[in-house]
Amino acid sequence: MTRQFVDDAGGGAGLRHLTLIALGYLALAVAGQAARTVTAWLASRLAWDGTDRLRERLTEHALGLDLAFHGRHTPGELIERVDGDVVAVADFVVAFVLDVVAGVLLLAGVLVVVCTVDWRIGCALLAYCVVVGYGMARAQRLAVPSAARSRAASATLVGMLEERLAGVEDIRANGAGEHTVRRFHQVSAALFRAENRDARIGTMLLAGTSVAFAAGTAVMLGLAAWAVEAGTLTVGTAVLLFQYTLMVRAPFERLIDQIRRYQSALAGLARIAALLAEKPALTPGTSPLPAAGPLGLRVEGVGFSYPDDGEQVLSGIDVTLAPGETLGLVGRTGSGKTTLARLVLRLHDPVEGRVRVGGVDLREADPRSLRGRIGMVTQDVQLFAASVRDNLTLFRPSPGDERLWQALEHAGLGEWAAGLPDGLDTELRGLSAGQAQLLAFARAFLSDPGLVVLDEASSRLDPATERRIEDGMSRLLRDRTGVIIAHRLSSLSRVDKIAVLDHGKIVEYGRRADLAADPDSRFGRLLDLAGVRR
Ligand SMILES: Nc1ncnc2c1ncn2[C@@H]1O[C@H](COP(=O)(O)OP(=O)(O)OP(=O)(O)O)[C@@H](O)[C@H]1O
Ligand SMILES: [Mg+2]
Repeated sequence: MTRQFVDDAGGGAGLRHLTLIALGYLALAVAGQAARTVTAWLASRLAWDGTDRLRERLTEHALGLDLAFHGRHTPGELIERVDGDVVAVADFVVAFVLDVVAGVLLLAGVLVVVCTVDWRIGCALLAYCVVVGYGMARAQRLAVPSAARSRAASATLVGMLEERLAGVEDIRANGAGEHTVRRFHQVSAALFRAENRDARIGTMLLAGTSVAFAAGTAVMLGLAAWAVEAGTLTVGTAVLLFQYTLMVRAPFERLIDQIRRYQSALAGLARIAALLAEKPALTPGTSPLPAAGPLGLRVEGVGFSYPDDGEQVLSGIDVTLAPGETLGLVGRTGSGKTTLARLVLRLHDPVEGRVRVGGVDLREADPRSLRGRIGMVTQDVQLFAASVRDNLTLFRPSPGDERLWQALEHAGLGEWAAGLPDGLDTELRGLSAGQAQLLAFARAFLSDPGLVVLDEASSRLDPATERRIEDGMSRLLRDRTGVIIAHRLSSLSRVDKIAVLDHGKIVEYGRRADLAADPDSRFGRLLDLAGVRR
């Protein structure tokens, strides 16, 4: 159309004829734009459908990995992996369809058309495209490490932000704000440098192509002028060739831009693959634990050290509890009490020995029945910004309000719950340490486990709350096997057995009554020290 327009105008055609050609050209341009819009819509859908599924899969996978993995990676870093990396891939998929495929098609089309007009000029254009394409492919290598570095820097920043924001109370209370901000500056400066480098390389590539295209256009213009002079081309064809040369530029530039996106998508994909390749070290077993009643516990010759940390935290631990018996676990801070509890819950596997619950080695236990039959109340109870109901059920389908109220009642929170403005739908905020502990009891009542592990909060509680906790605890332990990690010896007045841990070893183990009666026992002396009646 361009050629016809120019040649007809030169030949003195009528205004009507020229207007018709112009209108046709306009209609084509509009149709092209419409096609582009539809493609963009389709490409976005394609990318988001796929990546949403990927995100879901990654989240599920990350949640399924064991605590050892989560100890090594901050939540923020995982968010960046599950979200940031996937977005980088989605961006690329959209861009790939729109820019890369469309760009390559356009280039091929231009080459074919120019070749049919004049094969010599077509060959020149082809040679030129090959040279520029080769240069770009070489330059692409420059961009690889810089894109990977800027993604890693971004993950570090997000990880740090998440951790510091979660700890804002401690940071503020200890006056560590200034240092935190300084650290934030350092990490953001690293990100800035990485991004800056990345952008600089991108700009350099762009500048390089601008020069190449200016030169290319000049050469094409020269060739066309020469052909018109020689009489082999009309002016319209020369204009057409010039226009096509200009058209080559846009897809090339978009392709260059895509190289960077492609790099970051590639880096993202590699990290996604690495995350998916992480396998939980704890392989799930298939034997279910006994479905009802209290469960016996046998800890046999257990030794343990945390992964990536050579220090032996537990060694030679032997404990036996018949169904329904309770064990009080005492020992100094850092002696390994919580660690032993984690092994009983199979949050880690012991390095030596085994843990049997209800006669089943936990390595062979079916995870579903394990989570259902063993309950734990941790030292610091995690509460969620959600309703009381969701905090009790931990977002699982509710077993019915009646059971929830009953659990609260059993845990000693009946009075507190009765005062809630919206009942179970009240948003939970600002519980005291004692209340949080009671809420965790209520959670345990709901799941009705056969073995409970209570890791008592070490914070001081007022005598009234302490009383309520003790009552809740004895109700929870009725007809259940229990391991109680106690910081206050008064909580251990009703346990059957006592184990005293010191530096990861059991230094004293026996029936509570015997130990309390023995004037030389460690436990007896601890009771004396704490001023608790033997
Ligand atoms: N996730 C972990 N990774 C590496 N080492 C850990 C981890 N958790 C605990 N430890 C180490 O294991 C040892 C035992 O810790 P543990 O938490 O079991 O002590 P504890 O007896 O429960 O102490 P407390 O009475 O203060 O609660 C400590 O030396 C601690 O530094
Ligand atoms: Mg502990």
